[in-house]
Amino acid sequence: MTYAKILGTGSYLPAKTLSNHDLAKIVDTSDEWITTRTGIKTRHIAADNEKCSDLAVAAAQNALEAAGVDAAEIDLIVVATSTPDMQFPATATIVQQKLGISGCPAFDVQAVCAGFMYAITTANAYIKSGMAKKALVIGADVFSRIMDWTDRRTCVLFGDGAGAVVLGASDEPGILHSKLLADGNYGYLLQTPGWIANGAVCGTPFLQMDGPGVFKFAVKALAKVAEDVIAEAGLTPEQIDWLVPHQANYRILESTAKHLKLGMEKVVLTVQDHGNTSAASIPLALDWGVRHGSIQRGHTLLLEGIGGGFAWGAVLVKY
Ligand code: UT7
Repeated sequence: MTYAKILGTGSYLPAKTLSNHDLAKIVDTSDEWITTRTGIKTRHIAADNEKCSDLAVAAAQNALEAAGVDAAEIDLIVVATSTPDMQFPATATIVQQKLGISGCPAFDVQAVCAGFMYAITTANAYIKSGMAKKALVIGADVFSRIMDWTDRRTCVLFGDGAGAVVLGASDEPGILHSKLLADGNYGYLLQTPGWIANGAVCGTPFLQMDGPGVFKFAVKALAKVAEDVIAEAGLTPEQIDWLVPHQANYRILESTAKHLKLGMEKVVLTVQDHGNTSAASIPLALDWGVRHGSIQRGHTLLLEGIGGGFAWGAVLVKY
């Protein structure tokens, strides 16, 4: 049986940081409110000349180096993003060009904060079916570009970054199981309802969110998908070494851990330093766990995330 195994992880965070105290100078908020409601203390913001593809390439190079894989060996590139460099071409093809390779399929997937779940599941299917041998899977977003910096309900929550994994075909277990879901009826809860037509931006290009509505939906949906993916793989929650959740809000990820009866010492936490980096958040947390020595070879990981669409999913990995 062929598995898709994680050969290496990587990440990139822009140099500039924006703390809660910095935000309190821009909008009517406080470090105390942001910390108690979300767990976020600071986040990274891309420089004016840094595009989504720049963050993605830096994370990809970092992952390739960790995997000991040359860019020329990559035969699939999937980028999860909802803040691409431009309308088209796909950011994945821009990443491909910047990595100095050509020929292999390269495309973007758009599932907002669940994007990395969708991207890694797609790459897993390519590898298991023999359509690819070494895939680069990247989550990259620059949500600072779609923030209304006068809206305290949203601008304090997000940050920029990128995370990547190199997946390789292997006889040893890698990705064990995956489950993706979506329900477009809830799209109105979280959206950036702008589009380009006749040379102009129509609608609004700023992110809009019903925070409490998203919170309620997320807590229920994540608990269910996490439970289901574990049960469908024939495992039990006690067998999970690390929960690597989407880092949107400490209270949401704490609720998922509690539902699975996992102590918080089994949860990779980066929300305090990164904020919500959308599609980048899960691979950023994964890379953090690997580089800090928490996640070790042989560990069983549960990755899970939810975002606009609504789209959500969970992926079980033998690292
Ligand atoms: O990646 C997936 C996408 N996003 C999420 O997962 C986010 C899910 N939602 C959440 O994390 C939470 O709902 C928020 C952190 C967004 C908001 O927390 P909340 O506990 O649900 O607060 P709330 O929206 O009910 O607002 C409570 C109060 C309101 O004031 P009033 O109406 O009670 O006077 C808000 O106006 O807090 C006020 N408020 C703020 N105050 C200070 C909202 N934002 C802020 C702020 N600073 N930044």
